[in-house]
Amino acid sequence: MTTEKPWGGRFTASTDKLVEEFTASIGFDRRLYREDVRGSIAHCRMLAACGIIKPEESERLVAGLQAVEREIEAGKFPFSVPLEDIHMNIEARLGELVGTELAGRLHTARSRNDQVALDIRLYLKRELPEVRRRLRELILAFVVQAEEHVDTVMPGFTHLQQAQPVLLAHHLLAYVEMFDRDWQRLRDLEKRLDQSPLGSGALAGTSFAIDRRQVADELGFAGLTANSMDAVSDRDGVLETLFAAALIMVHLSRFCEELVLWSSTQFNFVSLADSFCTGSSIMPQKKNPDVPELVRGKCGRVVGSLVSLLVTMKALPLAYNKDMQEDKEPLFDALDTVTGSLAVMAPMVATMTFNREVLAAQAEEGFATATEIADYLVRRGLPFRQAHEIVGRLVAHCLERGRRFRDLPLAEWQEFSPLFDDEVLGLLAAADAVDSKDVYGGTARARVRAQLERVKKKWQSGSGS
Ligand code: ARG
Repeated sequence: MTTEKPWGGRFTASTDKLVEEFTASIGFDRRLYREDVRGSIAHCRMLAACGIIKPEESERLVAGLQAVEREIEAGKFPFSVPLEDIHMNIEARLGELVGTELAGRLHTARSRNDQVALDIRLYLKRELPEVRRRLRELILAFVVQAEEHVDTVMPGFTHLQQAQPVLLAHHLLAYVEMFDRDWQRLRDLEKRLDQSPLGSGALAGTSFAIDRRQVADELGFAGLTANSMDAVSDRDGVLETLFAAALIMVHLSRFCEELVLWSSTQFNFVSLADSFCTGSSIMPQKKNPDVPELVRGKCGRVVGSLVSLLVTMKALPLAYNKDMQEDKEPLFDALDTVTGSLAVMAPMVATMTFNREVLAAQAEEGFATATEIADYLVRRGLPFRQAHEIVGRLVAHCLERGRRFRDLPLAEWQEFSPLFDDEVLGLLAAADAVDSKDVYGGTARARVRAQLERVKKKWQSGSGS
């Protein structure tokens, strides 16, 4: 295969080997081969339709491009580092298949700058719905668990300290809200990606009378980029994808952290299926939550990818700069990581089992109903701050004596406030505290059931996806 560069004319010396290797992107941008071939076919058909090349030339080019694609798919394509990137690898091979004279016409009215911008947009248009599909799977796994646990009371935490009792379903549905936003965020950025940049040329547009709309229609783009300089130098779609991916990982990492804590002997809230855990090579009793730990760990590389490309793009003058070739590795790595993480999380979430008894017992600990009692005093006419003070003193009183609220006889309550009567003794169960949070978005059973129904309607019908 020839390694002659297509720009040879201007040069008297060949590229230094080190430079060739340093500047090449073929090692990673070969992933864009399908998009590159599709874009070239659409471009070439349009050139023929506009009378810029002959119809029979277009047909031979299209057949050649399809043959190249088949070679790549069959693993028989001779990738070449001196040919730098996927665009030139494909064009050079096309030249071997259909003749360099004809292959040389394909790049009429096009630059690698609008070509690569197109490839990336096509790639994201294909991959992002796949990420959304996996988010949906994960959401459905959370929904199944939430459904199991609309009656499971657990301690809710702030500062990782016992705060107020909540339903486990409520806790799980909080994650559904996060992943729902992640899903919408992807869908939203897909709309902005949906413009064809082809026709922007190197930066200024093209002097050929091309039909940008035809290419966009053939490739399924809703619109056209409006400014050629922006179109070839914009990587916002990649950055937005990286941000969306980073935030998905941040959300996953928060749940993973809870799983790591909750599956410990100390918490004992949950056990992960054996098939999602690993053992220790030395300690026979160990069952390690490797999957959540690793997902939590992988959050770092995706956030790193986002920061890496933000810094690459910062202060780049218009229009295209070679720096921008650094967009691909972070993008591919982030998409692989987020896809892989979502894929393993969904079945893990579906198969974990919660320890209802421990959760329920723990919900009664730690004076979790203290706010309930303060609210009770407020309903009897006390300003909230005073009620807070009184209940605070009650907690201290119990702590000193190693007792819980429910160990106190009414007379002892009344030492702290004459407003206490029998009714307070009925406020001490965590389940009642849960049901008292009867506000839209609150943790009362009826509210959580309604929340679950809304979520099920949205995701189980497939309408959300
Ligand atoms: N491999 C290049 C990239 O990914 C393609 C565009 C190259 N354009 C150029 N003028 N060197 O950015």
